[in-house]
Amino acid sequence: MIDTLPRLPNQVTIVGAGNVGSTLAQRILERNIANVVLIDIVAGRPQGVALDLSQAAGSEGHNRAIVGTNDYQDTANSDIVVMTAGLPRRPGMTRDDLTQVNGKIVIDTLRQALAVSPQATVMVVTNPLDVMTYLAWKVSGLPAHRVMGMAGVLDSARFQQFIAWELGVPPQDVAAMVLGGHGDLMVPLPSYTTVSGIPVAELIPAPRLGELIERTRNGGAEIVQLLKRGGAYYAPASSACVMVEAVLQNQRRILPMAAYLQGQYGLEDLFLGVPCRLGQGGIEQIFEFSLTADEQLALNQSAAAVKAQLPSALALLNV
Ligand code: NAI
Ligand code: 2OP
Repeated sequence: MIDTLPRLPNQVTIVGAGNVGSTLAQRILERNIANVVLIDIVAGRPQGVALDLSQAAGSEGHNRAIVGTNDYQDTANSDIVVMTAGLPRRPGMTRDDLTQVNGKIVIDTLRQALAVSPQATVMVVTNPLDVMTYLAWKVSGLPAHRVMGMAGVLDSARFQQFIAWELGVPPQDVAAMVLGGHGDLMVPLPSYTTVSGIPVAELIPAPRLGELIERTRNGGAEIVQLLKRGGAYYAPASSACVMVEAVLQNQRRILPMAAYLQGQYGLEDLFLGVPCRLGQGGIEQIFEFSLTADEQLALNQSAAAVKAQLPSALALLNV
């Protein structure tokens, strides 16, 4: 068993070896993007996942390495730290309960991870996403452009797939855009969604498009309902992998992600989903474009829901 990684270029630490973390590790390895260090609080879990994934390397034809560990020293000098540790929301748990539980985990684990990888870019997946990303930024002490939250790529991918099914076209032909917080107030934007350049509203009647928008907003909940235990992880891992690749390969792609707003869209001092240019330096640019009055109102409501959760999350920093 490999217990140390050769220092090849590109190392990603994934905190949390649960469903999203281990599937993300698989994606990163099998696309030959980076070496992975998988860390979890549960003894044996990251080691087991890492051993299992290592034994797929020959069949999958990649030469990347993975280490599973419970010791942050093993994560040293990572280029990116992806935060997937946390609990899913359970029946009877309020959003605020989840914020308290996952907030403590994010603070504790990120401090340890960044102590040994101070140059890393931070990517948050843990929910509630926009709030946890803000907390991660505060804990990290990093400039805001080096901290981001993954949700917009996933929410847009869901909208993209629902439109593709509706029209019987491949999803690659659909360019979908979803802004706002990662919750039921997210803002899918049909006015900026196209199918091979054709505005989607020209192809799908408004009432049906409204149904697809609603399904997108409930995209995570629909899967939780079907799985009964746990939530989505294949598409979330794919979405996070797209972002990891954009950073490590300096692709400078324009993707929606939770970014720190300082007046863009009339909003400030929160992380919220907006289109950004993502490259090696992190978020290089936040794109601001015109919204209709209804779209702006929806974005404001989504932002207000995120902001309402910030005080109790930030109070954890003083505990
Ligand atoms: P999971 O329960 O399968 O995995 C979570 C892992 O975190 C577990 O292995 C657990 O042992 C670990 N963990 C808990 N406390 C820890 C600590 N202090 N240090 C290290 N590891 C710790 O959950 P899953 O499905 O992987 O989801 C992870 C998170 O990602 C959840 O908060 C979930 O809501 C969120 N999520 C966010 C999405 C997004 O679009 N932003 C999409 C899908 C999931
Ligand atoms: C999702 O959207 C629950 O955030 C998770 O699938």
